[in-house]
Amino acid sequence: MARQPPAADALLDLLDTLPHGHRLWVRGAGRSLYPLLRSGDAVRVQRCGMESLAPGDVALVRRGRQLTAHVVCSTEPWTTASLLGNLDPPGGEPLGRVVAVRRGRVVLPLPRPSRPALWLAHRGLSAIWARPRARVVYRHVRDFFFSGWSLPLRRLFVGTLSVRLLREEDLDALLVFAGEGLVVSASFLRRQLRERWGLRPEERAGAAVGAFDDSGRLHGFAWVDDYRQEGLALEGLWVRSLVVAPRARRMGVASGLVRCLLDEARRQGADRVRADIDEDNTASLRTFRGLGFRPAPPSLTQRTNQEWDAAGGSKRLVVLERVFED
Ligand SMILES: CC(C)(COP(=O)(O)OP(=O)(O)OC[C@H]1O[C@@H](n2cnc3c(N)ncnc32)[C@H](O)[C@@H]1OP(=O)(O)O)[C@@H](O)C(=O)NCCC(=O)NCCS
Repeated sequence: MARQPPAADALLDLLDTLPHGHRLWVRGAGRSLYPLLRSGDAVRVQRCGMESLAPGDVALVRRGRQLTAHVVCSTEPWTTASLLGNLDPPGGEPLGRVVAVRRGRVVLPLPRPSRPALWLAHRGLSAIWARPRARVVYRHVRDFFFSGWSLPLRRLFVGTLSVRLLREEDLDALLVFAGEGLVVSASFLRRQLRERWGLRPEERAGAAVGAFDDSGRLHGFAWVDDYRQEGLALEGLWVRSLVVAPRARRMGVASGLVRCLLDEARRQGADRVRADIDEDNTASLRTFRGLGFRPAPPSLTQRTNQEWDAAGGSKRLVVLERVFED
């Protein structure tokens, strides 16, 4: 089994001290090489300076405390770009050359002879991607790919998922998933996981749940907690941030996540769990109704909408609740 990349905090120090020529796996190298590199993928970096890099190489670049893999466009002057985009702002210190990319168990080598191919791919793709129409077409193709017909294929690709409560050590996987599609800030998630959701059962308050594949990657996430976390005057436990990655949708993942949260809320002594859902979100409404959630009293629905209106929300929310029977 491949060794796990070092944790982000220790990585920068390690890279600084690593002699030229040495190699290591790095995760969290940004999304500039999308679709070649996606969040959660790892890159194998050979430590070197700018003198060993040439146009068409992929370089690991440091800007402050941030590490990103970019395509090298020129070395004099030093310019880099994302695979589908324009030149990056000037600056950035090259730390090494990316010699391979790893997604799950698949490793794609990037040897020096691949420079011209990568360079041409960058020029061609960024020219196409610059056109808004191309992005619209891409979104249609993506939605088509993730619709019902592709389910058997996606099941094969995603593999078996296991749904469980998140622990403190799941933070890295959670942050990768958050980078893909959550609007919740990383610092909020980190704090909640350390101080509330990731504690031992007897100390835990609220809970977060994830759907993990065999390699520890998250494909779905949700949490239940009281709304004081966000400063809203709504009592009780509410399900929030229920998101399943498009590749894993319509496989029962959301239902599994909410079921797990219901079990935990009940264990913590709650008598009910609530959810507020955009009125036009058919998929979400079906998920909650399918799990026994029923309309909350009109007064609560009204108050919830008022609270969210005051916080800048625009859509009307349907409030559902699942009451536990003894
Ligand atoms: C809503 C969401 C979480 C559902 O996830 P999922 O894993 O695909 O849902 P499940 O496979 O568990 O399906 C649950 C129910 O929803 C239905 N459903 C799922 N996607 C649907 C869709 N696009 N249209 C209609 N119904 C849909 C399923 O058929 C199933 O109902 P059934 O049991 O009656 O057949 C997912 O679409 C998503 O992440 N959406 C974007 C984020 C979002 O809207 N979150 C909800 C915020 S409240």
